[in-house]
Amino acid sequence: MGNTVSAEPELDLAVAEGSEILKSRNLTIDDIKRMRDLESATRGIMQKYHAAMRQMEVRFEIIDADLSARQNRNPIHHVESRLKKPASIFEKLQRYGRQTTIEDMEAYIMDIAGIRVICSYISDVYKLLDLIKRQDDLTLVTVKDYISEPKPNGYRSLHIIVKVPVYFLDKKEEVPVEVQFRTIAMDFWASLEHDLKYKAVRAIEGIDSFDELKDCSHIIEDVEARMQILAKALEVEE
Ligand code: GTP
Ligand code: MG
Repeated sequence: MGNTVSAEPELDLAVAEGSEILKSRNLTIDDIKRMRDLESATRGIMQKYHAAMRQMEVRFEIIDADLSARQNRNPIHHVESRLKKPASIFEKLQRYGRQTTIEDMEAYIMDIAGIRVICSYISDVYKLLDLIKRQDDLTLVTVKDYISEPKPNGYRSLHIIVKVPVYFLDKKEEVPVEVQFRTIAMDFWASLEHDLKYKAVRAIEGIDSFDELKDCSHIIEDVEARMQILAKALEVEE
């Protein structure tokens, strides 16, 4: 093992500015130097991920506005977006056993640009997926449906990777964007689970948080199914 971060206070700062994941790891000075190299190399390239991310946001805004105007429906509650921080890209490349280079980043990290589309109902999630699939300039790379098959911890959401054409002065590039669709209730669950995982809280006043979260996820699923039925009745009334 080489020197760890805490050996050099000046480098501690670099990590403090990086991702939460990195702070919890024992990075060597060499790791941090490589992370900085990756960070400076990404600078010129992040613009296209930002462009692709913005395009996807606008596509969802347009769908929402069109459904609102023509069917008086607002399937989207809100949209969040983020660009992955170089420190997280670095961590993921290492986790995947890849080189921490721009080439490997572009080839293997599909969630540099990420947007999260939060809906009221599960039916809205699938409706939006269907509408996005119909946009013929987008390439659907993967679909992971953790709503029909939740993760073992109870995590539910629908994830897709799409490639979006980005036009430059002299060329066109297909840039990947990860889109996470989830309902407000799924988002509520995922936020708490994320915070508990990050703080590594396992037992709270005698409750096993893993079991408890899984149980909450089932309850939320049940409540959502029942509320969806009520919402259907509302559609008929209109
Ligand atoms: P990552 O290497 O974490 O990106 O996993 P992956 O590439 O196999 O993709 P996956 O579809 O499993 O998850 C991608 C993203 O979904 C994560 O970065 C989180 O934002 C979210 N996510 C996945 N699983 C969980 C979970 O168990 N809890 C929470 N809170 N979020 C999750
Ligand atoms: Mg991912």
